[in-house]
Amino acid sequence: NPVQPLAGKRLLITAGPTRECLDPVRFISNHSSGKMGFAIAEQARNQGAEVTLVTGPVALTTPKGVQRINVESAAQMLDAVMAEVNQHDIFVATAAVADYRAQAVADNKIKKNDDELTLTFVKNPDILKTVAGLPKPPFCVGFAAESQDVEAYAKRKLADKKLDMIAANDITIAGLGFNSDANALNVFWPGGRQDLPAQPKLALAVALLNLISERYQEKQDT
Ligand code: PMT
Repeated sequence: NPVQPLAGKRLLITAGPTRECLDPVRFISNHSSGKMGFAIAEQARNQGAEVTLVTGPVALTTPKGVQRINVESAAQMLDAVMAEVNQHDIFVATAAVADYRAQAVADNKIKKNDDELTLTFVKNPDILKTVAGLPKPPFCVGFAAESQDVEAYAKRKLADKKLDMIAANDITIAGLGFNSDANALNVFWPGGRQDLPAQPKLALAVALLNLISERYQEKQDT
């Protein structure tokens, strides 16, 4: 029999990139494939959890038994998450949410009249910070994609966003992170740390979920 440490727990997971439109034919986005978030969703379901997956545009099949909500922009992802969050015990923010969106989306296709094009971007809401700041937040797990000073930046995000846990990945290591099948994570929580070595995202998801259920249980017991 499989171990079911998350039996009956309700997990809300974000995955993939967001797309921020510039005009009717163009958008800015990033290289997130959704693989990390989908792996966590699949393994959480295998551990007996009820899983809701809010995902940006990705080319992945929905794991069996997982409720999937498709969104495009950060604003849509925030709306979907806020509509669901009160029905969930644990929130895992794996999505690579665009930090900025175009100040105005052009009604018509932007023409190439000039040699230079200047666009103004405005900050998107921080979904994870919004959830962690709720009066009764779920157990909040953030991700941190870093290209330098991984530990310092991850610990800062853990404290600033008042998270229960953060999983940091160094996105400069070839073959890991964005769009690959493997990843490695440095996981931090208030007062603790564990390093999960490079391995397939599906295996890594199990290791991360084990840490999440341990810490979640410990928080319930205090
Ligand atoms: O999708 P894959 O190809 O499998 O790649 C996986 C991954 C590299 C995308 C994943 O492992 C990862 O690191 N995800 C977080 C990427 C990211 O945007 O990190 P960040 O350091 O910019 O954001 C920190 C945290 O805040 C993240 O949990 C993010 O989901 C959240 N956030 C950020 C901005 C925002 N506006 N809203 C948020 O909720």
